[in-house]
Amino acid sequence: MSAPIIAPSILAADFANLQRDIEMLNESQADWIHVDVMDGVFVPNISFGQPVVEAVYKHAKKPLDVHLMIQDPDRYLAAFRDAGAANISVHYEACNHLHRTLQAIKALDCKAGVAVNPHTNVQLLEDTIKDIDLVIIMSVNPGFGGQSFIENTYKKVRQLKEIIVENEASTLIEIDGGVNAHNAPALLEAGADVLVAGSFVFKSVDSVGTIAELKGINL
Ligand code: DX5
Ligand code: ZN
Repeated sequence: MSAPIIAPSILAADFANLQRDIEMLNESQADWIHVDVMDGVFVPNISFGQPVVEAVYKHAKKPLDVHLMIQDPDRYLAAFRDAGAANISVHYEACNHLHRTLQAIKALDCKAGVAVNPHTNVQLLEDTIKDIDLVIIMSVNPGFGGQSFIENTYKKVRQLKEIIVENEASTLIEIDGGVNAHNAPALLEAGADVLVAGSFVFKSVDSVGTIAELKGINL
């Protein structure tokens, strides 16, 4: 098994020292920088918008993995691409025409991702799986960092992996919420490719070491 892609979430960074925290990620084994955008409508919290993403992009040496927790994301796809997003993920629950939204993201030359809430069955992605570059399986209810991991996630990862294999798709499986060194091995074993970690990385005394620990998990 190859090493997981590690995507620390800057939602748990120190917003008053964002440049410092991005530089720490640049020097670490992080592969992507996960950027959580929340609109206060789709989720009960507001984080930041494209001006902050643009500021992060100026300092980042790793691709920005932008997770849009916003209603009707089509309105803002180009703005986030212009702000520096490499990957743009929209929520299954926030789109009326998911297939069209995926095409729109790809037309902007970004990787197209779909995030699914804990209550959303991954079978719903079967008909679009070949058009999806990455699926974010939410392992907490979106809106806040620092919540505890929902155990049902393992089952969803296995189901999604089966759909990907059956359809000969190359979709990556990303896990977001409550990820740590304790649940990461079983997630990778179930078929996850990308691990997002916010609190586990930024609340640790040695964030660079914690990222290395996640990167080094070998089954
Ligand atoms: C939750 C966000 C996550 C969050 C993860 O709505 O999508 O990316 O930052 O944070 P932790 O790892 O602390 O659960
Ligand atoms: Zn996220």
